[in-house]
Amino acid sequence: MLAAQTDTLLGMTPQTDLVDAAQTLELSGKHIVLGLSGGIACYKSAELCRALIKAGATVQVVMTEAAEQFITPVTMQALSGRAVFTSQWDAREDNNMAHINLSREADAILIAPCSADFMAKLLHGRADDLLRLMCLARPIDTVPLLLAPAMNREMYAHPATQRNLTQLQSDGATVLGVGSGFQACGETGDGRMLEPDELLQDIIAFFTPKVMAGQRVLITAGPTYEAIDPVRGITNLSSGKMGFAIARAAREAGADVTLVAGPVGLSTPRGVSRIDVKSASNMLEAVILRLQAATVFIATAAVADWRPAAFESRKIKKDSSGVPPQLAFAENQDILATVAQSEAAKNGKLFCVGFAAESHDLHENAQAKRMRKNVPLLIGNIGPDTFGQDHNALLLVDSQSTTEMPRASKLTLARQLVKEIANRMKKSK
Ligand code: CTP
Repeated sequence: MLAAQTDTLLGMTPQTDLVDAAQTLELSGKHIVLGLSGGIACYKSAELCRALIKAGATVQVVMTEAAEQFITPVTMQALSGRAVFTSQWDAREDNNMAHINLSREADAILIAPCSADFMAKLLHGRADDLLRLMCLARPIDTVPLLLAPAMNREMYAHPATQRNLTQLQSDGATVLGVGSGFQACGETGDGRMLEPDELLQDIIAFFTPKVMAGQRVLITAGPTYEAIDPVRGITNLSSGKMGFAIARAAREAGADVTLVAGPVGLSTPRGVSRIDVKSASNMLEAVILRLQAATVFIATAAVADWRPAAFESRKIKKDSSGVPPQLAFAENQDILATVAQSEAAKNGKLFCVGFAAESHDLHENAQAKRMRKNVPLLIGNIGPDTFGQDHNALLLVDSQSTTEMPRASKLTLARQLVKEIANRMKKSK
């Protein structure tokens, strides 16, 4: 009855971050040199180091002298499980060339925090300490350099810093952006280092093959809320986790992603633009507004099929009769079916993907629903097997075949699904 994205029993289980839920080793086999320059954000680098290791990477920490004022090499050694390098004169390396050896082993060098001073010197190719020496000596085509700036908002906004950022990017560095908010100096604005989890998401995205590059993906997720009166309404148990995981996976794969979300308690995946809506008609409106720009539409939302026919502007009160109020319902428009009927979908410029949660006869029901909704791809799942859980199993149904995706975390499935969608889009060209 409810549009069927099967999800957690909202409110009955704590909302966890998708990163934790996935428990996958996305950075397995990757060796990251984590460089710390001087800044209060060094305290976040300790957690970042752990997060990288938890995601399967090996981490070699290199610190500048200024960084040692903020956090000790002892802490970073304990967290990374490797002796930290701080000096270009470190005699532990047989050839005494730490800058060459460390940079040749790396799959990427990540400078976090990257101070304004570090950037300015990097820009000029200065090599007056081990970390800068290493950045300069890295094989530029095979060892990417990622920068996570961290500084006061005035320093960040200064034309010199902005100029340096632009130049560093054209010199081949990847700038990961900054956060906004309260700063250690007491001021508020742009320039904070991104949070460890945000940086982790960016690193994972950096290493993900860009099978969705150039695509603009529009996704619906979560439940809808159909108001009865100002304090009551009808909703459902969707948590939106599958839709949010797909948004994250599509962005990792290089797509420009817009997520139209019903009321859910999930944080927005990095780099995804999110529009919050309440009712099915709000969701339809938000989708229609953005449809023209989209090349892929993925409907994971559990859209309510019906809404109360009338909205009472004042709270419905109990009276002494003991007779409950009679609610009449009106049918909501089917968003997926509406989108599938658009010119763009019909002439192949928009690839539509639907979802269906069933309780039985998954193959038959999913195929029938795919044809009824007129979409090239429909994803079926067994509702009771995934409700209240972070895991799921999917059945992909198209006009030619069915493909089973065995039980895995929703993020793992989302990543596989994004690849499947990209393959089908390539074939349909
Ligand atoms: N959907 C939609 N708008 C609606 C209802 C459903 O966009 N008003 C989409 C869902 O997001 C999902 C697909 O349609 O991608 C299938 O939803 P589902 O509820 O399973 O389909 P129904 O047509 O409502 O069928 P059922 O009778 O099984 O509930």
